[in-house]
This record gives sequence, C-alpha cells and structure tokens, in this order.
Amino acid sequence: MNYHIVTYGCQMNVHESEKIAGVLREKGYDTQSPLEEADIIVFNTCCIRENAENHAFGNLGALKKLKREKKGLLIAVGGCMVQEAGKAQLLKEKFPFIDILFGTHNLSELSALIDKKRAQKKAVISLKEAREAVEDDIKPFRTGYPGAWVNITYGCNNFCSYCIVPYVRGREVSRRADTIIKEVSSLVQEGFKEITLLGQNVNSYNSDGQGGMSFPELLDACAEIEGKFRLRFMTSHPKDFSKELVRVVKKRDKICNAIHLPAQSGSDRILALMNRKYTRETYLDRVRMLREEIPNCALTTDLIVGFPTETEADFEETLSLVKEAEFASAFTFIYSPRQGTKAEKMAGRVDEATAKDRIMRLIEQVNENTRKCSESFVGKTTEILCEDFDEKKKCYLGRNEAGRMGYFESAKNPIGEFVPLHVTRANGVSLFGTVEEL
Ligand code: 5AD
Ligand code: SF4
Repeated sequence: MNYHIVTYGCQMNVHESEKIAGVLREKGYDTQSPLEEADIIVFNTCCIRENAENHAFGNLGALKKLKREKKGLLIAVGGCMVQEAGKAQLLKEKFPFIDILFGTHNLSELSALIDKKRAQKKAVISLKEAREAVEDDIKPFRTGYPGAWVNITYGCNNFCSYCIVPYVRGREVSRRADTIIKEVSSLVQEGFKEITLLGQNVNSYNSDGQGGMSFPELLDACAEIEGKFRLRFMTSHPKDFSKELVRVVKKRDKICNAIHLPAQSGSDRILALMNRKYTRETYLDRVRMLREEIPNCALTTDLIVGFPTETEADFEETLSLVKEAEFASAFTFIYSPRQGTKAEKMAGRVDEATAKDRIMRLIEQVNENTRKCSESFVGKTTEILCEDFDEKKKCYLGRNEAGRMGYFESAKNPIGEFVPLHVTRANGVSLFGTVEEL
C-alpha cells in the first residue's frame, strides 16, 4: 500500500512528517508514492502565517476529485492548523471528504484512528489540548540522510504577541536528557552525520525540570558521543542566550559555529509590543559576546516587518540591525495576524503596500550581507557534508558548517561524506568549487 505525505511549515513539521511516515509504515503502508497512486494522503499543516494555511486549503480542495475516483482512499489532515480553535470544524465543513483530523499531540494515535475510520463511515476527529506523554514510541522514517532531527522540547511558553505556536502546541515540555543522548548516539551509529536538536526555544530546555540537565550540559553531552558528525540546534531565543552555551559551542569542534538567533525587529518599541523581553541593545550585547568568543560564528536570524504600529523609523532600526549584527542570512516575514493572539487585537495595522515595500528593502539588505558572507569563502577551503546530487546542475551539493550550500562535480558519489571544497566562486547563498579526486 502507498502513502503520500504533504508537509507545510518548518523543520519541526518535516520531522513530524517523518514520525507520521513511521506510523504508516508500521501499519503496512510501505511506499511513498505520487499523490494519484496513494492509498492514504496525509496533509501535515502549519498555521504560523496565513499563507501557509491558504496553501493547504488550496491543495486540499484539489483532493475532492481523487477521493471521488479512488475507492478506499483515506485522507487525513494533521498538524498545528488542526489544533487552532474552531479550525478542525471548519475543515470538516469545507472539505467533507476528509476522513481523519488529528492534532499535533497524538501522532502515535494515528494508527488507531485509521482502524476506527475503516470501521465507520463518519469522519474521525481526535484533538488533544496538551501532550499526554512527552515520549512517544514512534520510530521516525527518516528522510534527511545524512542529516537527522531530534526533538528536545515540545511547545512554547513565551507568548510572543504575534505568535500562535503556544496556543496550538501547548506549554513547553522537555524530553529527558538521557533519552535524547541515547537517540543521538544511535543515530550516529546508524551513520547519520549531522544531528539537529529541535525546540521552539532550546535555551529554555529543562524549564519544567523534566530534562535533568541544562541545555548547555545536554549539548556538551551530545558532543561527547564518539564518531565524526556535526551537531546543530535551533531555535535560540535571545532572552535566554547565555555565555555558558557559547562556551560549549566554542569548546566542541563537533558543534557547528552557526547560531540561529531570531531578532524579529530592531526597534525597542516594537520588541516590547512583541513581548520579546529584550531590547536592541541587549540583543547586540549577546551578539558581541558571541563574536568575542567565536569570531567566525555564522549568525542567522528571523525578522518580521509590518507589525502593528511599525513606523518607517522603527523599520529603519531593523534595517540598521541587519548591518550592525552582520547576519550571514535571515528569514524575512511580513506580519500575519493570527486569531487569538495579542497582536491580532492591536490597533495600527500596517497596510499591505507599505509592508511589501519594507520587506523588499529588507531582503535587499539581507542579500547584501549574504553576498559578503559567501564571498568571504572564495579562495578558501571549506568542509562540506555532501547531502545530495542536483540533477539539473549535474553536480553534488552539501552545506558547510556555516550553512552555506556548496556545489561541486565528482566522479565518485560522496553523499554522506565530508569533503574539502576549494571555493572558486560564490553566488547568493551558494558556493561553487572543486574537490580533489575522492
Ligand atoms: N507573522 C509573521 N511571522 C511570524 N513568525 C511567527 N509568527 C508570525 C506571524 N504571525 C515568524 C517569526 C518566527 C518564525 C518561525 O516565524 O519570525 O521566528
Ligand atoms: Fe512563537 Fe515566540 Fe515561542 Fe518562537 S518563542 S514559538 S516566536 S511564541
């Protein structure tokens, strides 16, 4: 039997789709197939911004015909959009052909939900307010070789005023450190070469006391595992970003010198309205601390434009922060009102044309940073972890420690190997070069 999973949103969701695939494989769905050939189609949705939701809504509509034509086809919709207040009901009304609706807190339940649906005509809806258990017994079907993701926390306690995550994913819970270390260790033994520890705010790991150690201690313990592999982590909240953590990153070669530290805005007034709990200056203080300890550390960020009441002067502070913090790259977003959040009720919405103009100018500044960063590698040798072959470009590709994608030709297939790339040219976030005969 075939399955087809469509994933929206972030790395967290990509990993959750691996867990969904794990559940389906246990259940006898053994091949990921094109949509038309699937016996079950699962949409793993995201609700962090409106366009991610619209995307899913659009694609769901197109399933109606398939469902009509293929007897026995099951359609399941999961992910954080289903957790939103009233959304499961809305989905059911708009797309009556959906068979199963399931939230983010009960992935291992999917197997039982499929059985239940097979035995009844009515759609099956299963939503939970909170995770019942931190551990699930799912073996993910990993698709990111040579990279693997490992959850360390679920949920978030921060309630940034624009963000829906705490509402749909619930309060932060930490997995036990010994379980995480064991998982990382077996992944390394299985041959994975890059492990990324995942949490909405990794720095507050163990805030519930369930982890057993702090995040820097956990990271240090993971770096002690033998073998050649890289360790990454995301996302760090600036308010909890500590010197202790930076010292661990500095001490351990296995931990990539690359930090994702979302700033969101460069304006103190907007940061306060966003409930980010730091100022531009404290953010920059942490950046300076990081640069003092690890001068070559790649710093990346997330930025939002068009937050309610954002003025041209506020926006210019974000622009100047990009220059001052020397971000290697950044994800840029237009503020998207999310139902139930504090910001959604704020007056002073920024009109669409202004927000679009700001994001274009911001992207221009970010591209300038990106170009400078990429060019700094030209003429040097940088270690690449080869992850794939690009059919169009007819060359292999992989990232360096800083996260820059490197492209090169090779007679031998080096996927899963670390290779030294002699960089001859840079373009945007990409590096091009040669490797000696492998
Ligand atoms: N509108 C725009 N961007 C958002 N993000 C989170 N919520 C919103 C929203 N309502 C962005 C933040 C966060 C990233 C994952 O998504 O920048 O760091
Ligand atoms: Fe959302 Fe803020 Fe939590 Fe990140 S830290 S998930 S932006 S509430």
